[in-house]
Amino acid sequence: MNNKNEDRVQWVYSSKNNSELSQRYDEWAKDYDKDLSEVFGWIAPKTASAYLAKYVHPDSIVLDAGAGTGLVGLALAEHGFQNLTAMDLSEGMLREARDKNVYGKLDQMVLGEPLSYATDSFDAVISVGVMTLGHAGPDSFKELLRITKPQGYIVFTIRTDVYLKNGFKEKQEEMESKKLWEVVDVSEEFHPLPTGEPDVLHQVWVYRVLNY
Ligand SMILES: C[S@@+](CC[C@H](N)C(=O)[O-])C[C@H]1O[C@@H](n2cnc3c(N)ncnc32)[C@H](O)[C@@H]1O
Repeated sequence: MNNKNEDRVQWVYSSKNNSELSQRYDEWAKDYDKDLSEVFGWIAPKTASAYLAKYVHPDSIVLDAGAGTGLVGLALAEHGFQNLTAMDLSEGMLREARDKNVYGKLDQMVLGEPLSYATDSFDAVISVGVMTLGHAGPDSFKELLRITKPQGYIVFTIRTDVYLKNGFKEKQEEMESKKLWEVVDVSEEFHPLPTGEPDVLHQVWVYRVLNY
């Protein structure tokens, strides 16, 4: 692994495929929480969790898609959520998430591929730091929509440049025009990695599922 903390985000962004991405996260898993809190000042899990808590009751069944080491689960637990499932590509990240003791279930799956959850399994899905360079693409939304109950919520963060350049804007608008979901809230742009990558901007998007 590249030992310079500040290069680790770039190192995962530059993965050539899901297998390389998963290996890199497996390798990073043990140091991820320390690096992100001490070097990067990662605030997106708390920011996005506060948006979910604004719209979704804490008794709800929630999927954390791309849960990583479980920082979103920890933030949601602080809001009183107890029915949490973690899903991630990387077994190493999921092992760290298990140790947080906030998820009832942890599943290794890949966004962008068919998910082995039944239709209408979840009241809400949250995904933080996953819709980004070299990670999950806009083709991930189709399955997230299927596994979320009608009137349920899909909350995610997205890099503002990736939203514009990598097909997310078109896909999100297409799904809205087909009345598959409706946008309920969009955050201001914010700096999710204020000390490590001050130029990166994210927004939180909140959608209500209408159909699939
Ligand atoms: C930047 S981390 C964010 C982790 C966590 N959500 C957080 O906020 O700290 C991105 C996570 O997404 C996972 N990931 C990337 N692409 C994925 C995909 N296509 N399907 C599932 N998980 C994916 C990675 O393994 C990693 O754990």
